Amino acid sequence: MKEIDLEELFLEARKAADFAYAPYSKFRVGAALLADDGTVITGCNVENRSFGLTICAERSAVVKAVSLGKRSFKAIAVSTPDSNSPVGPCGACRQVLSEFMDGTAPVIFGGSESENVKTTLGILYPFDSLHELGTVSAGAN
Ligand code: THU
Repeated sequence: MKEIDLEELFLEARKAADFAYAPYSKFRVGAALLADDGTVITGCNVENRSFGLTICAERSAVVKAVSLGKRSFKAIAVSTPDSNSPVGPCGACRQVLSEFMDGTAPVIFGGSESENVKTTLGILYPFDSLHELGTVSAGAN
């Protein structure tokens, strides 16, 4: 992927949604992160019978990517095929994404290709006063 092809990234997120483990909410979510090296790392929501232990698709993608040695991302796509309208990342995921992505990074989310929202992490998570601290930690171990 040379340029940031958000539509392509969105398709990867849609495919990842099919792996969602969501027996309780029946709400599948897929995420696709575009790493700085051009690779795409996907994630899906993984629910638990103790509901609070559920992990969102976005954070599942971030944890997978970081454990593969990738710490910097150019864009993220989130697919929610079970919703009629676009569902954006939750507050916790916005903060976790801000650890590894700039505010200018594009975010695309939606239930379908035709009806989606294209925005940036900075719009979703403004006044990120601790971003510099996050950048320092992301660079170090
Ligand atoms: N969910 C995500 O994976 N990402 C979001 O951005 C919103 C919510 C999941 C959590 C839970 O498994 C299901 O969607 C319903 O909230």
